[in-house]
Amino acid sequence: MNNRVRLLAVPALLMKSKPMSKLLAASAVLVAITVLLVSLKTPRVTAEPESDHDQDESKVQIGFAIAPVPLNFERHDRKLVGLGSYIVNAQEDCNGCHSQGPATEYIPTGNPYLRHVPNGPFTGMQQVNPATYLGGGRDFGPFGSHGELTHLYSRNLTPDKTGRPEGGRSFREFLTILRTGKDYDHIHPNCGAGGADGSCLLPPFNGDVLQVMPWPVHQNMTEHDIRAIYEYLSAIPCIDTNIPGAPVLRNDCQ
Ligand code: HEC
Repeated sequence: MNNRVRLLAVPALLMKSKPMSKLLAASAVLVAITVLLVSLKTPRVTAEPESDHDQDESKVQIGFAIAPVPLNFERHDRKLVGLGSYIVNAQEDCNGCHSQGPATEYIPTGNPYLRHVPNGPFTGMQQVNPATYLGGGRDFGPFGSHGELTHLYSRNLTPDKTGRPEGGRSFREFLTILRTGKDYDHIHPNCGAGGADGSCLLPPFNGDVLQVMPWPVHQNMTEHDIRAIYEYLSAIPCIDTNIPGAPVLRNDCQ
């Protein structure tokens, strides 16, 4: 190739490359549009992970929506109360044991275990019975004492007139109960050498710790979650549960 031809060839190449690059650019735009349209139309298979903040916030919102009693927010951190409600009412079912039992846990028209109207009282709208909500008194029967220890009752978790839950319990004590099962009321101490006296627990049961209560499971919760439960239990209404033979369930509401 001589120089002349070379000189002519360069602009010829440039001329050639112009429509070429136009074509390339056009197809790139086309590809981009297609990708955009496809990505808009195709549902995401892998959902983006929610941030911790979003997760906490939705638990707080659910907690408020499902609390079956009016809540008192004076002096309470709203977020902790909402999270506490979520744990108590959506996860741990504290009221399943800490109400007076299945027969009165829900009001009849709000009891999801009963038949729907007209064949039964259930209207389709669940409603926990506020008169027994977390007031304790479910009877777990004679326990650990050859029938002499009359009954093992779930305790009253509602706040008293001090505004602190479980009849005025401090957070430190509450934390200790959920972590170790310690029974501050010593309702059923271990029987001494004299044997069963009507309220003590015989071996192999340990009367120093709460029975039936799932503290061996609750002890694994974070302190933050236990705090949230405590705050929620401070925000629910006080109930004075009066069951003959179980004075520990009484609560001074005024
Ligand atoms: C499986 C039933 C059951 C569940 C679920 C349950 N509890 Fe209990 N709880 C009991 C019983 C029964 C006692 C009393 C045990 C005893 O007298 O030995 C008790 C005792 C307690 C006590 C001690 C009260 C006191 O006066 O010292 C606290 C606090 C407590 N429960 C909190 C809770 C919380 C909070 C939840 C939910 C996160 C919960 N419980 C869930 C059965 C249960």
